[in-house]
Amino acid sequence: MSASPSSPNPDRRGRVQDKVVLLMGAGSCGPGFGNGRASAITYAREGARAVVCVDIVPAFGEETAAFIRNEGHEAVMMQADVTVNADVQRVVADTIARYGRIDVLHNNVGITAMGGPEEETLESWHHVMDTNVTAHFLAAKHVLPHMVRQGKGAIVNISSLAGLRVTPYPYSSYYASKAAVIHFSTHVAAQYARQGIRSNTICPGLMNTPLIHIQIAGQYPSTQAMIDARNAMSPTGRMGEGWDIAHAAVFLASDEAAFINGVVLPVDGGQHTIAR
Ligand SMILES: NC(=O)c1ccc[n+]([C@@H]2O[C@H](COP(=O)([O-])OP(=O)(O)OC[C@H]3O[C@@H](n4cnc5c(N)ncnc54)[C@H](O)[C@@H]3O)[C@@H](O)[C@H]2O)c1
Repeated sequence: MSASPSSPNPDRRGRVQDKVVLLMGAGSCGPGFGNGRASAITYAREGARAVVCVDIVPAFGEETAAFIRNEGHEAVMMQADVTVNADVQRVVADTIARYGRIDVLHNNVGITAMGGPEEETLESWHHVMDTNVTAHFLAAKHVLPHMVRQGKGAIVNISSLAGLRVTPYPYSSYYASKAAVIHFSTHVAAQYARQGIRSNTICPGLMNTPLIHIQIAGQYPSTQAMIDARNAMSPTGRMGEGWDIAHAAVFLASDEAAFINGVVLPVDGGQHTIAR
């Protein structure tokens, strides 16, 4: 990545000062800045003591970690498949061994598979549910004991507008999994509120990220047709960017949001307010 994107809020640094951030899915599946990569960079720019960049593809996670280090902040890449219990256990243990605590758990990993119940295979269904839902369970299972010990922690879960409503895309397992993320997060919020732990969910709407060029573009005759159609669907006339998700995430993870727990925040330019 050549250009270093600037923060739209250059004066508002330090919102997660000294916090240790464990970010699951910190790479980008294509060139540029997806939701996870933009969030990892923004946590670092906002004062995080360290950002642990977890990814199943080491090169994707390392690209993010290197970007952060090039800006003078602390970041380390850890390879893991977030659907594998032993992997999640290992990255949590390694983060604790290295930094002693985990202040923010950010669950960004999510995949799509096109098809309704007739088209989607059982294998695909399980893969999407494992990746999009079970990964949240595993991360919570292994991180929560440390947050309980600390008496404090913030969890940011990335769902989707598809977890709230049906969009033009036919993807059964994505809808089901993203709805499950929301209610799992809400449950954690309620159960752990007395222990100083908050769990909030972001629902990105139509974003212009590398992911859509890889996982969504096949639904359209051309890339430009996809971009035009998605821009037109948004009430703002344009899609959002990874940075929009990043700024919402940093706020929810920060102490500014100390009394915000169990919320479901659409970051979608108002898309959730309209029928389609
Ligand atoms: N882009 C959009 O339009 C949009 C809209 C709504 C919601 N979302 C949600 O945003 C999140 C992803 O956004 P992004 O732009 O960062 O996507 P991305 O695919 O660019 O980045 C996700 C990273 O997760 C990694 N990953 C995938 N499977 C993994 C696994 N099993 N274990 C560990 N790492 C794994 C990938 O290698 C990738 O680097 C997802 O939860 C997605 O559902 C995106």
